[in-house]
Amino acid sequence: MKIPHPVQYQGSKRNLAPLILQYFPAKVERLVEPFAGTGAVSIACAAVGRAERYWLNDCNKPLAELLQSIINIPDELADFYKTLWHEQLADSEGHYYKARKDFNNTSDPGIFLYLLSRCVKGAVRYNSVGEFNQSPDKRRKGAKPETMRNNICGVSALLKGRTAVSCLHYQEMLEDIEKTDLVYMDPPYQGVCGERDSRYCSGINHDEFVDFLHELNKKEVPYLISYDGCCGNRTYGKELPDSLKLKRLEIEAGRSSQATLLGKKEITRESLYLSELLLQHQAAEPQKCKKPQWGQLPLFEKKKAYVRL
Ligand SMILES: C[S@@+](CC[C@H](N)C(=O)[O-])C[C@H]1O[C@@H](n2cnc3c(N)ncnc32)[C@H](O)[C@@H]1O
Repeated sequence: MKIPHPVQYQGSKRNLAPLILQYFPAKVERLVEPFAGTGAVSIACAAVGRAERYWLNDCNKPLAELLQSIINIPDELADFYKTLWHEQLADSEGHYYKARKDFNNTSDPGIFLYLLSRCVKGAVRYNSVGEFNQSPDKRRKGAKPETMRNNICGVSALLKGRTAVSCLHYQEMLEDIEKTDLVYMDPPYQGVCGERDSRYCSGINHDEFVDFLHELNKKEVPYLISYDGCCGNRTYGKELPDSLKLKRLEIEAGRSSQATLLGKKEITRESLYLSELLLQHQAAEPQKCKKPQWGQLPLFEKKKAYVRL
């Protein structure tokens, strides 16, 4: 089955989502994504009708607003994208830089959609004063308007009427996360993020994150986390401590683009941590899993029809 995805986004879990979903309980009341990005895991989850409701959060305000627009006003957004896309045809590069300037003046989520579709590797980059400064991909013009419309409307059909979107620092969500939720976390690389509530927040503090996980344990909330990993002999990120009582699995995330460029055959492996409570729902899990292909998983053969709201 084809899962809709409007935007490419560096770090998206689009390809790994089917594998991650295998560790979800059979029925989820509400799936919460504190680091939603493009919401790839929620979209995949909705496509198989696995959760009743969704809460997508991201501290990047234009990104959170873009998710909101995709879900709630898909046609309006698709029309806006179509206009921008056609305007670029005379001078694609010049048009991109003008759109980027407009975005930096207005934070308009529709322009952000166009920039994400046109920029290098879907990689969101900001300068020191918080301006989006990624360059255009000169070989591509971005998704064609009809393709974009199909993807946007596809996501909207899956999530509209059952999804809340917020723009909070993840720690601010704690109070409203409930025992009956399932939380999937895919934080950015581990660094020190001093700027709360900043749209260019690019890393999280490891110790603060560990405290947050302890709080989730105390509240008896089941969760999964994509966190550290390794590529060849190199590791990235600190592992999470034993005190959290998590189970760590390794997922093959494919060959890194950097390794491919260097002609190496190194495979990136990512950790997926499962909380103790979630483990109680699992009878047996594999230690190492291979990246699945869409349609080959039993999970998707048993797909339930979703309700269009
Ligand atoms: C690795 S990306 C998530 C990608 C996502 N799983 C997907 O499939 O698109 C991490 C996201 O966390 C967001 N983020 C960074 N720091 C955050 C914070 N303190 N609170 C909430 N979101 C944060 C970033 O804006 C980014 O979109």
